[in-house]
Amino acid sequence: MGSFFLRSATKADAPAIVEILNHYVGSTTSTFIMEPQALDERLAWFDERSDSHPAIAAEIDGNVVGWGALSKHNPRGGYRHTADVSVYVRPARHRRGIGRAIVTELIARARAAGHHALIAQCCTESRGSIALHESLGFQRVGEMREVGRKFDRWLDVTFLQLIL
Ligand SMILES: CC(C)(COP(=O)(O)OP(=O)(O)OC[C@H]1O[C@@H](n2cnc3c(N)ncnc32)[C@H](O)[C@@H]1OP(=O)(O)O)[C@@H](O)C(=O)NCCC(=O)NCCS
Repeated sequence: MGSFFLRSATKADAPAIVEILNHYVGSTTSTFIMEPQALDERLAWFDERSDSHPAIAAEIDGNVVGWGALSKHNPRGGYRHTADVSVYVRPARHRRGIGRAIVTELIARARAAGHHALIAQCCTESRGSIALHESLGFQRVGEMREVGRKFDRWLDVTFLQLIL
């Protein structure tokens, strides 16, 4: 396998981002999105990206193998220094340090943008994601019980936070 590198994602990456996301939409509880996402939705999402809320891609040999982003935690102005973290890596590329590199880069970009806190909302079943964020200093700050429902079962969500 070639080595990966990180770069800012652009609209040209939207098909790969959707493909990676939709794998998890259809088969896991790592996202509570229920229906495969359409390309148009992801293109519109790019219009909301900025230095404060960037999207980044991990690339190997010209292919996007993972992506991550910072999004507004809450649209109310008082939350403007807090961002949510997203990270998704192609299953065939897991456990090669790509997820950690993406979140590390998002932390650096969050600091550069002047954010104060980062939040990761992980289904309690997403043990890999929880372990990844904890390995980067995020702390579990709470758990919401049975707020999600997918695949005919109630799902709990763990909130992890990193104060920058
Ligand atoms: C979570 C995810 C992004 C991790 O990506 P990755 O590239 O495999 O992660 P890394 O190789 O960088 O792993 C970094 C560390 O995270 C932890 N980790 C990652 N996956 C893990 C797993 N399945 N089980 C336990 N720990 C795990 C380990 O501490 C790991 O370090 P190590 O490999 O040295 O032990 C990936 O599994 C994924 O895309 N999952 C589905 C989507 C998802 O859950 N997104 C987050 C939504 S909140």
